[in-house]
Amino acid sequence: YKGDYAHFTLKEISEQPDTILRCGGDGGAVEQMAGEIRRAGTAYITGSGTSYNAALVARHVMSKYADTRLEPIIASELPHSPFSAGEGSVFIAVSQSGESADVIDAAAIARDSGARIVSIVNMRTSSLARESDVVVGMNCGPEIGVAATKSFTSQLGIIYKMADIIGGGRAGADFAAVSKAISGILSDHAGIKKLAGELRDVTDMYVLGRGVHYPMAAEAALKLKELTYVHAEGIPGGELKHGPLALMGPGVYAVIMNPADSTYEDTLTGAREIRARGAKIIGISDKNSDVYDHWVELPRVGESSYPLVEMVPVQLLAYYLALEKDTDPDHPRNLAKSVTVR
Ligand code: F6R
Repeated sequence: YKGDYAHFTLKEISEQPDTILRCGGDGGAVEQMAGEIRRAGTAYITGSGTSYNAALVARHVMSKYADTRLEPIIASELPHSPFSAGEGSVFIAVSQSGESADVIDAAAIARDSGARIVSIVNMRTSSLARESDVVVGMNCGPEIGVAATKSFTSQLGIIYKMADIIGGGRAGADFAAVSKAISGILSDHAGIKKLAGELRDVTDMYVLGRGVHYPMAAEAALKLKELTYVHAEGIPGGELKHGPLALMGPGVYAVIMNPADSTYEDTLTGAREIRARGAKIIGISDKNSDVYDHWVELPRVGESSYPLVEMVPVQLLAYYLALEKDTDPDHPRNLAKSVTVR
């Protein structure tokens, strides 16, 4: 039920101050997952689309704050890779629906080659959940909009909780503060709506980020392409000069995922290169810069917590740009909420 919202997508984006507080339930299942990883020789993590982007964030967060190596694998690539999980390994499958055929198949291959299966799912009665040794619930309620929004922040929240359990609190996720920060973005987003109006005729967008903000950039680009049908690409900031700079010019917009952490200055350098070619820069950051043509202000949160908030303004931008472009945000063409085909 959409209530007062024009679309489920907007409703679900707006629920995030609440859903981020519910991810992982009472923590018991996250503890169990942490135990599985501690005992495992090798830990893999898989998913498709948005859930795979969350897996890439997980690799950064677990390595940086919990000294734990996770090996991400795209679910649909696993059957075509020389993969054997090995006895004593753990295989984490991330899936909102728990019904993605690619993820279910990947988990089956992992199980057959010796891994224990831990799933991070929203739908607890799903096929994937049934076939898992441990199930961690996103608990964000039904996600009806085809594009994943609140489930993504819940996936990240669970990963931060797990990192804090294994790393002794170094991920430092303060969920109350994160929830408040997301509320702040939602309650004051007139600027994002206005920016969507300016972007009405855009056909090409690039999203840049470094470090953990690279998978965030990939997720931002995925949201933009699904909801608006604009050509959008995520690029690791440092890779610009290795090719993509050839595409920058007037009419192009580049979104810079640029929280004020150790990646800030290096990412700005890339933005300057883009701007010098006549493209426009949208900076998603808690720190302004004269390089930005548009500054989308992020609230200040603890440095490690940026990924838990920085997608929200991009989700809003993609949503309002969909309205400008007259596409249906809840039902992007050619896509299904759960992809049960192989
Ligand atoms: C992105 C999107 C898809 C899904 C992907 C995986 O907005 O909707 O990329 O993320 O199909 O779906 P789940 O998480 O249900 O396995």
